[in-house]
Amino acid sequence: MSSPNVEALFQPFQVKSLELKNRIVMAPMTRSFSPEGVPGENVAAYYRRRAESEVGLILSEGTVIDRPAARNEPKIPFFHGNEALAGWKRVIDEVHGAGGKMGPQLWHVGSVASFMTDWVPESPVESPSGLVAPGKPRGEAMSDRAIADTISAYGRAAADAKRLGFDTVEIHGAHGYLIDQFFWSGTNKRTDKFGGATLKERSRFAAEVVKSVREAVGPEFPVILRISQWKQQDYAARLAETPDAMAEWLVPLVEAGVDVLHCSQRRFWQAEFPEIDGEAGLNFAGWAKKLTGAATISVGSVGLSSDFIGSFSGESSKPASLDNLIQRLERDEFDLIAVGRALLSDPHWVTKVRTGDSNSMKDFSPAALAELV
Ligand SMILES: Cc1cc2nc3c(=O)[nH]c(=O)nc-3n(C[C@H](O)[C@H](O)[C@H](O)COP(=O)(O)O)c2cc1C
Repeated sequence: MSSPNVEALFQPFQVKSLELKNRIVMAPMTRSFSPEGVPGENVAAYYRRRAESEVGLILSEGTVIDRPAARNEPKIPFFHGNEALAGWKRVIDEVHGAGGKMGPQLWHVGSVASFMTDWVPESPVESPSGLVAPGKPRGEAMSDRAIADTISAYGRAAADAKRLGFDTVEIHGAHGYLIDQFFWSGTNKRTDKFGGATLKERSRFAAEVVKSVREAVGPEFPVILRISQWKQQDYAARLAETPDAMAEWLVPLVEAGVDVLHCSQRRFWQAEFPEIDGEAGLNFAGWAKKLTGAATISVGSVGLSSDFIGSFSGESSKPASLDNLIQRLERDEFDLIAVGRALLSDPHWVTKVRTGDSNSMKDFSPAALAELV
């Protein structure tokens, strides 16, 4: 039986054809354990363990669409080609066998280089305007043809996800990668219909991607879009400085076919617009839900004492209280909560939360990144 204070986390949730037993989502986390882009038995077993231990919805690590320079590390999985798709079929079959639900996160890195390796793709790196950050050239500006092919590659990947039996798909539109490079005025200097002075104009590429995905999966299949204000190129960057700007950004994307907005923050408890509703005000997912009416997923340092950026420079994290999270879920600020590192290092995290087994909660150590536990 769940201890009363975590009950809000263990309420079922439904969006279109996706029925979830609880509110906990495994956040998408790149693991780079797929040689030649093919996820093997070890990857399937890693996700199956999370399904066996009660994760409501698993989002896969970023897995790339069929564009020549869509990835920036050699062991990032493909979501195209017979071999990789057979690997993903094993993943979803094992997850379903353990009673779980899962969607792949469809990704194109744009012009962002990996900070883990020096590897570069054989084909030219591509981005909206040949920039990786404001004033920092990297990659070729995409032609009309490259844009059209990319949009249709997202659609093909989504159709494959549905055909293989996945329960949803997530489009990665966050963290300074390709789609976000279109959103961001600092990296989108285009003067055609994919650029412009307003966020709404620069959201056109994302809207076309969403439409392509929606067309591929039909009306009842839930489509998630992950977005962020922050970029790995600039943690302080913001696309929307006001609720009006946020509505201008997100409402058209929901109209284009997004069912769930996955609002990436590094710390879920931080107010998005504290000047309006105070330091304890709505977070990003809270505002996105209020402004669009769409379901939302929040994320960021759940159950841990420090944020994930520190993990990449070797910082460890201690288990932290879930009280603030529970209070926000109880008032329906957002619908679902994604958990990253706590689930990366401990497949049994959800069961421990439900049973109140706080003594066996683990610290997060960056050493966990080296293996698939
Ligand atoms: C090792 C690692 C890999 C990640 N890879 C991705 C990714 O492929 N796609 C993505 O959208 N976010 C990625 N993230 C961000 C996480 O999804 C999540 O937003 C972040 O870790 C914050 O959640 P946490 O504090 O619970 O870990 C990654 C994070 C980590 C730690």
